[in-house]
Amino acid sequence: MNDYTEEINRRRTFAIISHPDAGKTTLTEKFLLYGGAINLAGSVKGKATARHAVSDWMEIEKERGISVTSSVLQFEYGGYCINILDTPGHQDFSEDTYRTLMAADSAVMVIDASKGVEAQTRKLFKVCVMRKIPIFTFINKMDRDARDTFDLLDDIEKELGIATCPVNWPIGSGKEFKGVYDREKKCVISYADTEKGTKEGTATEIPVAQEDMLRAQIGDGAADKLLEEIDLLDGAGADFDLEAVRAGDLTPVCFGSALTNFGVEIFLKHFLQMTTTPLARKADIGLIEPTQDAFSAFVFKIQANMNKAHRDRVAFMRICSGRFDAQMEVRHVQGGKVMRLSQPQQIMADDRKILSEAYAGDIIGVFDPGIFSIGDTLCSPKEKFQYEGIPTFAPEHFARVRQIDTMKRKQFVKGIQQIAQEGAIQIFQEFNTGLEEIIVGVVGVLQFDVLKYRLENEYNVEIRLDSLPYEHIRWIENKDEVDIEKLTGTSDMKKVKDMKGNPLLLFVNAWSVGMTLDRNKGLVLTEFNRN
Ligand code: G4P
Repeated sequence: MNDYTEEINRRRTFAIISHPDAGKTTLTEKFLLYGGAINLAGSVKGKATARHAVSDWMEIEKERGISVTSSVLQFEYGGYCINILDTPGHQDFSEDTYRTLMAADSAVMVIDASKGVEAQTRKLFKVCVMRKIPIFTFINKMDRDARDTFDLLDDIEKELGIATCPVNWPIGSGKEFKGVYDREKKCVISYADTEKGTKEGTATEIPVAQEDMLRAQIGDGAADKLLEEIDLLDGAGADFDLEAVRAGDLTPVCFGSALTNFGVEIFLKHFLQMTTTPLARKADIGLIEPTQDAFSAFVFKIQANMNKAHRDRVAFMRICSGRFDAQMEVRHVQGGKVMRLSQPQQIMADDRKILSEAYAGDIIGVFDPGIFSIGDTLCSPKEKFQYEGIPTFAPEHFARVRQIDTMKRKQFVKGIQQIAQEGAIQIFQEFNTGLEEIIVGVVGVLQFDVLKYRLENEYNVEIRLDSLPYEHIRWIENKDEVDIEKLTGTSDMKKVKDMKGNPLLLFVNAWSVGMTLDRNKGLVLTEFNRN
């Protein structure tokens, strides 16, 4: 135990994931409100205000009024120091969204009660499963007509393959929403539409054992249905098992309404009790405990040109062990240098604060003179270990890229390689061709615009992008055992290699992946690449 074990153990670092419009922003605002980080919900991250207030982000963000970058928010609540990692949604979904999940110790999944599991939740969820981090579900918008509660839970179990355990149970929805039943306390918390932006109102709590009071409060119909559902639930639902939650096999589910601020504080409290302190991380010398004395961190995201006037690059890192202080020297393992990190800062939605200290679990951004790469390790000068790398995630959109003015070959190659190194895009080549024929793959289509914009503005190179029909990409995991030449696939399959020469396959149809596996016994394909 060292002096700062206590500081580290009160950290909770989680990502918040959802399909666009499920209510992630609204829920985050309410969390911040409880933490006292803001006085009035909406003033920090309201779409219209904050996103535009981030005035020196890339031009493209300003033009479109969207946020291409994910941000980090820190606040205090009930003795905890909480770091929320926001994952960008909509068309600005990119590989960064996935990488952000690599820096979190757990995830909060927000689901719209009228829609159930949606496409983007599914994608992000896969990364959580790969990392086996705990997932906490908030089923939002109960003040609107919702799908049947059992159906919603079934949807999560079937679509995502994770068992669910309701912490509370909704009574009706929409105009008929009466509140929730708290399974632990065995009482009903009645719905009060507290005014937007104020703290949770003092809701009435009625023990279900006092049936008369219950019936008087929610009506006979709702009471009968609830009592029946409680029986069903107690008989059939998965038992609560903290170990299964921490292993990512069981998700606790809460119901509520972020907009009207109902059920948010209950969820936050449950979540904080159940989630973990910063987790140990895998390095080449074994697991590194967060409370060990020496500082260590890894870079999970690099953002270039956050301020065009200064052409700056910021490397975001997750502190994995010990304490960081701005004066200390650290070793950049991959670069083989000992240095001081320059301008360490905490980056909020619309603000940056210079930091003097931070602890395991925290996220910091440091000025990057172009030396860091995604996945790099920083540690105390006496050590030399490396954290396990961040996988490359499968792009879902592909285009062939051609330069318009072939005289600018050098700038083109330099620019496209640089942008690929930052991880904004992935580049592939066909076998037997040079860099004149490049295929670009991205996770979110907006990255195509980012590429075009940046090549024009930063490298003075104009390009043309011709979109390709591929939607599925697989790395060949056992590449040393497979003869790529002899591989037989489907007619829509294309063989390419990545920048490091790893072979991979592109497919137009999802079923072709299975077909190719059938036709080539022993072939192992993967959606994440760690090579
Ligand atoms: P996101 O970050 O997941 O994309 O969603 P966001 O919080 O921005 O919410 C999307 C829309 O859903 C917003 O409405 C928001 O007010 C609404 N919403 C969020 N939570 C609830 C809820 O519990 N109940 C109801 N009824 N609505 C909710 P909007 O009209 O698109 O934006 P705004 O004009 O309200 O900002």
